[in-house]
Amino acid sequence: MHWNAPIQSSIPLLTAARMAPKTVPFALLGALVSAAIVVRLPFVSLRTSAGTELMVVHSIRCALPFFIIAFSASSISTLWRGRLSQWLMRNRRQFGLTFALGMLWHMAFVLYFFFGFGKSLNRLALSLDIVGLDFVMALTLTSFRPIARHLSVQSWRLLHRTGMYVIWALATYLYLLDVKYYRDPLHETALLILLCAGSLRAAAWYRARRHN
Ligand code: HEM
Repeated sequence: MHWNAPIQSSIPLLTAARMAPKTVPFALLGALVSAAIVVRLPFVSLRTSAGTELMVVHSIRCALPFFIIAFSASSISTLWRGRLSQWLMRNRRQFGLTFALGMLWHMAFVLYFFFGFGKSLNRLALSLDIVGLDFVMALTLTSFRPIARHLSVQSWRLLHRTGMYVIWALATYLYLLDVKYYRDPLHETALLILLCAGSLRAAAWYRARRHN
């Protein structure tokens, strides 16, 4: 009887642990985004600026879905509670870090594009990109406890919230320009997805405000 008691009481705990949404290893997501990027390499020529530009664009297109998931996780969990939203919340750090890895690929191709072929961006575009990149770096570094512990909880939250909105705004602005100039379905779809993610945030904010 005495032996059984702790075993019985541990059963709900074990069941809960088994049912709790799992964390996806970053190594898996990182390998996924990197594979999606490099799989394109045999089909482009890095000896030409046009081929390199394709990789610049392809790398950010592979990275952005991970950002959008990380950006939308908290809104989804506010609007629809359930196992999926729990899973998203539990994994949003991994999705954010996967986006950062994709950004690293983007930057590697961008640097090669600039220094290998003497290309550049206009001053406004470059300044906005640098601001976005600074936030990607800040959010990435402060996702690790040894660095995050130097910030108060409020500062950490403010930094991450601001950074997520800045990156979202930058991507939305870039696709708005693309839609304005090229009007192709791919850019339109990307813009629509970003606007939906922004609307989810607004809806979640409104819901949270009404409930407080
Ligand atoms: C210093 C930092 C950065 C530089 C120099 C840079 C440079 C570039 C270049 C050269 C292109 C290709 C432009 C073209 O061919 O039209 C590009 C595309 C793009 N970049 Fe970056 N980038 C930077 C940071 C970022 C960041 C932080 C984001 C995050 C939102 C971002 C998102 C994009 C997007 C969405 C595109 C367009 C992709 C498409 O057309 O589908 N970039 N970037």
